[in-house]
Amino acid sequence: ESLKAIFADSYHIGVALNAWQVNSTDAKVNAVIQENFNSLSPENGLKWERVHPEPEQYNFDFGDQYVALGEKMDAFTIGHCLVWHQQTPRWVFQGEDNAPKSKEALLATMEEHIEAVAGRYKGKIQGWDVVNEAFNEDGSFRQSAWFKIAGKDFMKAAFRKAQEVDPEAELYYNDYNVWRASKRKGILDFAKEMVAEGIKVDAIGMQGHYQLETPTLEEIEQGIIDIHEAGFKVMITELDVDVLPRPRRAEGADLNMNFANSDEYNPYKDGITPEAEAKLAERYAAIFKIYEKHKDKITRVTFWGLGDRNSWLNNFPVRGRTNYPLLFDRNLDPKTEVIAKI
Ligand code: XIL
Repeated sequence: ESLKAIFADSYHIGVALNAWQVNSTDAKVNAVIQENFNSLSPENGLKWERVHPEPEQYNFDFGDQYVALGEKMDAFTIGHCLVWHQQTPRWVFQGEDNAPKSKEALLATMEEHIEAVAGRYKGKIQGWDVVNEAFNEDGSFRQSAWFKIAGKDFMKAAFRKAQEVDPEAELYYNDYNVWRASKRKGILDFAKEMVAEGIKVDAIGMQGHYQLETPTLEEIEQGIIDIHEAGFKVMITELDVDVLPRPRRAEGADLNMNFANSDEYNPYKDGITPEAEAKLAERYAAIFKIYEKHKDKITRVTFWGLGDRNSWLNNFPVRGRTNYPLLFDRNLDPKTEVIAKI
């Protein structure tokens, strides 16, 4: 049974795609996308560095093909992301003299970008990650260039502009580790402050980059409950499960090395063992049990990638691993044993 059929009464089931998947001539790639998913996210193609690499240069090739696929599939099509501290060119924050821009100049740059990108896809993108990853783990604002130059206003201005440009689109704040109470409190307090000022915030995206043991199911569940109680829809926006042990700097690991030949940190080079795949199945089953319990609060669950071969987790947080975080394997075949349990 296809994923979107399994969850038809619960929430949209999404997948993050890159250019070669949006344009694929491979029948299997197209079939896996179209049969299993009813929501799409752009993994990299709408990030600032891709879509707007130079002040006067916009690249809409990917975006145009992406929204066309979304329309063809009648999918709930997501934009990711308008404002982030990563994958954003330096010129955004600096003037021609390399000195930091003034607050006014930075916000003007941001607003022009939102107008151009969200404006072009008005009516074609149903929801935007307006601001991505602006908070620290303790709930304070991240000291990004956005925050250092413009303070909290950058976030309010971003949501205001997105609402003005496309009043029909849903607007989201998206972050990782939203299961962590301290981080979540900072996010929800600020999101409520924005709403009190008349700024539209529809949902809080919990990215959902999980490992086998962490976070706990209780932490995930409390996150969903708190977001809902604060008055926002819940979206699981970037789900995957890292099955590999993570090297830690604190334990003396050199995180800059390539881990391809490491037996300790890259144990399934030639294939995942049945024991490890059973753990993955158990983890996914437990996670989806919680999502299903709260399906009245959750409107979308999106996997961060189509199949294991192209998952970003092969190269994050360290390079060169062979990871198995998704529900479709390295040949894009469904992991039937895992899917059967969710
Ligand atoms: C990742 C992509 O998956 C990688 O291909 C890219 O090299 C870096 O970004 N949080 C986010 C996503 O919001 O945009 C990130 O995507 C993963 C973490």
